[in-house]
Amino acid sequence: MAEPAYLPDDPDPSVQDLIAARPHLRMDAQAGLMFDGVPLARIAQALGTPVWVYSVDTMRARLAALKTALGGLNADVHYAVKANDHLAVLKIFAEGGAGADVVSEGELRRARQAGIAAADIVFSGVGKTAAELRLAVAEGIAQVNIESPAELATLSAIASAMGKTMQVVLRINPDVDAGTHAKITTGRADNKFGIPYADAADLYAHATTLPGILPVGIALHIGSQILTLAPYRAAYRRAADLVRGMRERGLMVDRVDCGGGIGIGYRDDAGASPDGFAGVLRTTFGQMGVRLLIEPGRWLVGPAGLLLASVVLTKANGRFVVVDAAMNDLIRPAMYDAYHAIVPVSPVDALASVRTSDIVGPVCETGDTFARARALPAVEAGALVAILDAGAYGAVMSSTYNARPAAPIAMVDGGRWTEIRPRQSHKDLWANEHVPDATTVWN
Ligand code: LLP
Repeated sequence: MAEPAYLPDDPDPSVQDLIAARPHLRMDAQAGLMFDGVPLARIAQALGTPVWVYSVDTMRARLAALKTALGGLNADVHYAVKANDHLAVLKIFAEGGAGADVVSEGELRRARQAGIAAADIVFSGVGKTAAELRLAVAEGIAQVNIESPAELATLSAIASAMGKTMQVVLRINPDVDAGTHAKITTGRADNKFGIPYADAADLYAHATTLPGILPVGIALHIGSQILTLAPYRAAYRRAADLVRGMRERGLMVDRVDCGGGIGIGYRDDAGASPDGFAGVLRTTFGQMGVRLLIEPGRWLVGPAGLLLASVVLTKANGRFVVVDAAMNDLIRPAMYDAYHAIVPVSPVDALASVRTSDIVGPVCETGDTFARARALPAVEAGALVAILDAGAYGAVMSSTYNARPAAPIAMVDGGRWTEIRPRQSHKDLWANEHVPDATTVWN
């Protein structure tokens, strides 16, 4: 299943249209493709390829735009750390006034390491361990999003034993289809996430009786890469109805964590509009006297990153273009049939005549394909290409499959750039491996 709102046989946008749709990109007649004022060829030359490039200006601008859209609402942004957890990225969002939504001990520790206050951190996830809950309580984070009765009981026991009270929201499953890819839909009754809608009020009432727990509201997150407002409207209406019903029962509910999921344009479309999203929040919750939290990841960081790759060779008369990045670097096309725009970096290549190719990586799997039957200016061996909109769920989902070291990361800021993570060495790949020999102590 392809990502929504596009038909699989929609024509590929031209390089000019792809660039025009992205204010952070510009094709300079001499320097080639520029990312927020920095020629990408310069970074590739210095660091080699494949290499990730993130732009601070784009991240800042997107957070600012989102906050402007939320104007007048009692709403706080908690950046979904899973989308891109580099410490430098977390720091930018923290400086911009966002908190963090974390889903593991590792993300919680990263957020704290990046300087995000515990009071600005919420903890989501369907299977938090006792150790993770203990850390959340010890750190004194803002809120734990509870996804099951078992988790509620565990947290109550942990927090009360530590002499602490933890604020919780119950993540409900609104049974709404977000109309996105099946692997990233989370709000349907048959998904593993959340507490069944019909059980939520009773569990909330029960939570008010538990030691170490202060229930303050509800949460929901229906999926990712959502491009239309209808699923949000439906899910938030269900949430608002639930809050009203709970209040009628005398329960105190004053927080709704609305999750993330705002989609971006991966072709030459604009993606979802934060104004439209904010409008739904306003219409649904504006008069209810609740504090809102939102947990966007992709929308903030997706367009702010790209993956630079070099063409290794072409074969079958250009039917296949083999690049030096692969599915181990960016797995989204292999995993979700995701569309990522690909543009040549050289101004000369950008003007080459268009041909239809499969853009593939060198990994020994047919799924290692960035684009199938893509109309693209003909690029030959040595050419640089930029795989766009890879700032979210890019480097964080990388692996070292085929013994391919993690690619380096560069960051662009105000027309300058710097390396924020070096290329992993081959030695790093086996540094922690022990090969049993005659001296090995076996247990
Ligand atoms: N809140 C919760 C509870 C989530 O599970 C997620 C994402 C978010 C917020 C942020 O969603 P966003 O605003 O980024 O859509 N790897 C997939 C996406 C997985 C999303 C998982 N949960 C992809 O590459 O498309």
